[in-house]
Amino acid sequence: MENLDQHQAETLAAIAEAATVQAIEAIRVSALGKQGWVSALLKSLGGMTREQRHSEGPKIHAAREAVTAALSERKAALEHAALEARLAAETVDLSLPASETPRGSVHPVSQVMDELAEIFADMGFAVASGPEIEDDWHNFTALNMPETHPARAMHDTFYFPDRDAEGRSMLLRTHTSPVQIRAMLDQGAPLRVIAPGRVYRSDSDATHTPMFHQIEGLVIDKGIHLGHLKWTLETFLKAFFERDDIVLRLRPSYFPFTEPSVEVDVGYTLVGGKRVVGGSGDAPDGGWMEVLGSGMVNRKVIAFGGLDPDEWQGFAFGTGVDRLAMLKYGMDDLRAFFDGDARWLGHYGFGALDVPTLSGGVGVRA
Ligand code: PHE
Repeated sequence: MENLDQHQAETLAAIAEAATVQAIEAIRVSALGKQGWVSALLKSLGGMTREQRHSEGPKIHAAREAVTAALSERKAALEHAALEARLAAETVDLSLPASETPRGSVHPVSQVMDELAEIFADMGFAVASGPEIEDDWHNFTALNMPETHPARAMHDTFYFPDRDAEGRSMLLRTHTSPVQIRAMLDQGAPLRVIAPGRVYRSDSDATHTPMFHQIEGLVIDKGIHLGHLKWTLETFLKAFFERDDIVLRLRPSYFPFTEPSVEVDVGYTLVGGKRVVGGSGDAPDGGWMEVLGSGMVNRKVIAFGGLDPDEWQGFAFGTGVDRLAMLKYGMDDLRAFFDGDARWLGHYGFGALDVPTLSGGVGVRA
């Protein structure tokens, strides 16, 4: 039985020195496991006399208790130390200032759309929308482009292979003009809406991408004439480019859905070889560039919109949002808009908290 005292002393010493939970487990197996020395001693009780059992039994049980208690105490101490070490290592001081500037910015297209919504809201325009997957009736027919109309071919349309339930060809809308029809049918007249959104044409180079953004404007009311259109566009462009010396040039043009149609050019001045919007395009260092398509809404389109063209008149305009962003903020390659390059976004993006407001300046950069 000096065996027992020696085993117990050695085991308790080993437990005190154990540095890991795994070492504790190994000691537990060697003492209390099936092949362990405590188990062997317990088994030996069976071959003892009654007196021996009476004198040795309590000693063996006491040794088992002592080892068990030492094991669980050491194990708890090791686990506690491990937790303390982890808590110390993983401390986060939430009161410290950020060590890195948060990344992420508002894309110029989103920014310009917000600017446009703000400018037009001030003139009483609500925002309307329509589906990007459109049918050919809304995209073409109701805009006075019947099936045989040559303008359909000019749009480089992406068609879907299947027709809808009503037998209409389905396509990715080639412009935001179908929202004119949807707004008239849904809301009736009078009407004052803008419709910003994605449009699609099979075209790709430095100034064309298969997907791009347009904004449509539509006003329907009584006694609307070209003067209202001109005032609205001039007011809009002055607010957007944030300068008063915006000069417009209206050129006669043709769109099936407007009659008469006018293309709108804006005067620019060459500054260090770059076109800067502002001033007369007829000035010696100036020129004109086209920024908008517009016109008085065609009578047939008003009728397709469910309204009586003898009672209601209106004007409509459409322009490229990406192009407006390029002109205002100086990017020269449209494709970079859709590359998702974080460096480009870091340079041209806007702070998420710089919400455009008319009073604060619609295009303030952080
Ligand atoms: N939908 C025309 C386009 O995509 C633009 C436009 C809209 C012209 C409204 C006139 C009136 O080119």
